[in-house]
Amino acid sequence: MNLNPPLVIASGPGGSGEYLSLINPKYVGAYTLKTITLNPKPGNKSKRMENSENYIINSIGLENPGIEYVISNIEKFVLKETKTILSLGGDSKDEYIKIAEKIAPYAKKFEAIEFNFSCPNVKKGGLSILSDVNEWQEILENVRKILPNSFLIAKLSIEGNFVEVLSKKVKEFGWNGLTLINCVRGLLIKDGKIVTGGLSGPILKPIALRAIYEVRKVLKDIYIIASGGIYTKKDVDDFLLVGANAISIGSALFKDPQVIEELGKYLKGVEK
Ligand SMILES: Cc1cc2nc3c(=O)[nH]c(=O)nc-3n(C[C@H](O)[C@H](O)[C@H](O)COP(=O)(O)O)c2cc1C
Repeated sequence: MNLNPPLVIASGPGGSGEYLSLINPKYVGAYTLKTITLNPKPGNKSKRMENSENYIINSIGLENPGIEYVISNIEKFVLKETKTILSLGGDSKDEYIKIAEKIAPYAKKFEAIEFNFSCPNVKKGGLSILSDVNEWQEILENVRKILPNSFLIAKLSIEGNFVEVLSKKVKEFGWNGLTLINCVRGLLIKDGKIVTGGLSGPILKPIALRAIYEVRKVLKDIYIIASGGIYTKKDVDDFLLVGANAISIGSALFKDPQVIEELGKYLKGVEK
């Protein structure tokens, strides 16, 4: 995958291209769409986001219109202004395989297809898909066969198993890339009440850096998109130093969409 600049909008915070009206697409290498599942999902009940200075906790729950809707409106989902990465998820092995089969005729329209194996906010699928590694390997093997020519990316977190062990499997089954990392399960107390959800934002950075560092040590030539608390040029430098090939922006979009232009310019070498 050749992205110029190597800057990606992370799956979720950017919706299905909504931020394009606020940012300069010249500085976006690729835009990852919000994760789509086989069947539509209404998501969790609100309130689904809490934030503090250093983090966000969200429990959106993979709200999405389902793959049939995407296929019926496929041109709407292939963004004109930038390359598009499709993000797919599932509740079970069969769902991951079925969604790959459904998208196969349209796969060429996307720069890459990312599979979300790490959503912390759904009871089935998401992170829990990794609780049976043998079954997960069957997904990797089958999806590679169904989408033989796609640039396939596995999005992992640090839960489920050691991320470097899972990453080796991704490579072994002929996948091309990794997005590291997704939100991790978090909890905060708000007005005396427990709020659980996926943790993102600056607080995630040291965890994401370590994950990429460990994976790069064992895999020299897999494409890695860094995700987790990237807000500043220093963050970009740090992630490139531990071996990331591309940088993704998630929660920072909520704070200031202009961060895209600033970091995109930086990565293009316009402003070092
Ligand atoms: C509101 C919200 C929704 C998200 N939805 C998804 C999603 O649908 N699929 C996915 O793979 N990751 C999703 N994520 C995770 C982000 O893509 C990203 O990996 C994570 O937030 C860490 O990066 P950040 O600290 O830059 O936000 C979501 C994150 C947030 C904050």
